[in-house]
Amino acid sequence: MISERFIEYYREHFFQEDEKWLQDFLTALASPLLKSFRIDETKKSKESVLDSLKKQWYLPYATNIPNVFTFDRIPDFNPFERRLGFSLEHLLGYIYIQELAAAHSVHVLSDWKVHHDNFLILDMASSPGWKTTQLAEQYPESFIIANEPTRERIPQILQNLDRMGSSNIAVTLYPWQFFSSTPEVFDRILLDAPCSWEGTVFKTFDAVKNWHIKNIKTIARLQEKLISAACTSLKVGWEMIYSTCTLNLLENEWVLESIEKNFPGCFEITFEKKYWPHIDGTWGFFVSKIKKLQSVVSKQTFPPKSINSDIFPIGKQDIQHIEWFFDTEDIWGYDFFRYKNKILAVRGGKNAEYARNNFYCMRFWEEIANIQDGVYKWTHFAGKKLYSSKIPEYKIEWSEEALDEYLRWWNLKVDTVIRWYVNLYFENERIGLDFIQDDGTLSNLFPPQWRRK
Ligand SMILES: C[S@@+](CC[C@H](N)C(=O)[O-])C[C@H]1O[C@@H](n2cnc3c(N)ncnc32)[C@H](O)[C@@H]1O
Repeated sequence: MISERFIEYYREHFFQEDEKWLQDFLTALASPLLKSFRIDETKKSKESVLDSLKKQWYLPYATNIPNVFTFDRIPDFNPFERRLGFSLEHLLGYIYIQELAAAHSVHVLSDWKVHHDNFLILDMASSPGWKTTQLAEQYPESFIIANEPTRERIPQILQNLDRMGSSNIAVTLYPWQFFSSTPEVFDRILLDAPCSWEGTVFKTFDAVKNWHIKNIKTIARLQEKLISAACTSLKVGWEMIYSTCTLNLLENEWVLESIEKNFPGCFEITFEKKYWPHIDGTWGFFVSKIKKLQSVVSKQTFPPKSINSDIFPIGKQDIQHIEWFFDTEDIWGYDFFRYKNKILAVRGGKNAEYARNNFYCMRFWEEIANIQDGVYKWTHFAGKKLYSSKIPEYKIEWSEEALDEYLRWWNLKVDTVIRWYVNLYFENERIGLDFIQDDGTLSNLFPPQWRRK
């Protein structure tokens, strides 16, 4: 299954002396791994998410990243039970299923800390958004441009951003060349590059079955261009990450060497680590951190433009509606915009405004209301982020069946005289905003794309 050319390359470059070590590597590379998930502690405490998952027969194991856990199911669990991806914890964005080694890139960038500065951050190759949403957790007051040049991969990232409720992230669709023309505007950059996926053999042998050095060189040439564009885009004095899920020298060490060749003396590699399946027990992964020491452009050539002009700050009437409905302390920190009949909420301060003026954004918001004939229809996203103590709480007695009906969009009839918005709870778990219709059924504001099938 694994190409002889691949084995020969690894024998020559990494395992010259030790055939057993090579065999250990090849065996580990193809062996199944425990899956892992990350808990977004800005939403829910680690303890309560873990307690709830344990009640659903998951066995979580701690890792070297405090909010990342590998997991198993108890040995005799029913294989027909729903997977973790369909759990309420996942739907409400408390967890993100993410591979352990890949979870390191963002921590290396943030020095394992949460930063409350207002940075402008570029995630240059972002779909499906594992690391973008992780950036939003480590940099909650920053504004993040999640770029993804492959149009077909945009729906995945949009869905993940909605599920995680990320309101400080815009999605753009630029080719890499664009970032060569935005010199020194980003405070942090993550380049999780397209690569040959050698590290993910345990999922599919595709990466190594027809492995050829010629193909690796082609990818490495693209990676060199991407990293050069990122080097140009980064502000002086700040840092960026280059990571791949592959292990060969050309796509990793050699790409880093190209920085010195293209920008001599301007950058310093401050961190470099390869995760090997037979050593680290993860998939194959490479993370490096690069600091910009000197400018690489003669002058700033990225004048502010005014694009996304159909998105503009809301007027007085919209402000009054929001302030009337939601609690003041919850609104704090958001800027609100109008796009046609929608009200959008954005976090990220001056950098969100900069992004609105300078990048064509496919998503620059969370839609919190839709105005129909002068009536403000508040959305699920509004209820997820903003709380209204004006509206009543409505608790549905917890049962897996009731929740299942709700998530399948069946008409859930509720026993109350309320016919308005409610803060909906399943027992003590706040689901968000919902609306009870005249016939006593919930209108279910939960996004239809998350419907349980
Ligand atoms: C390793 S994946 C990114 C995974 C993502 N960072 C995450 O953590 O969820 C690499 C991404 O690069 C994108 N890509 C492909 N060609 C590219 C190019 N020329 N410039 C930038 N990104 C590219 C792919 O579509 C893919 O989504």
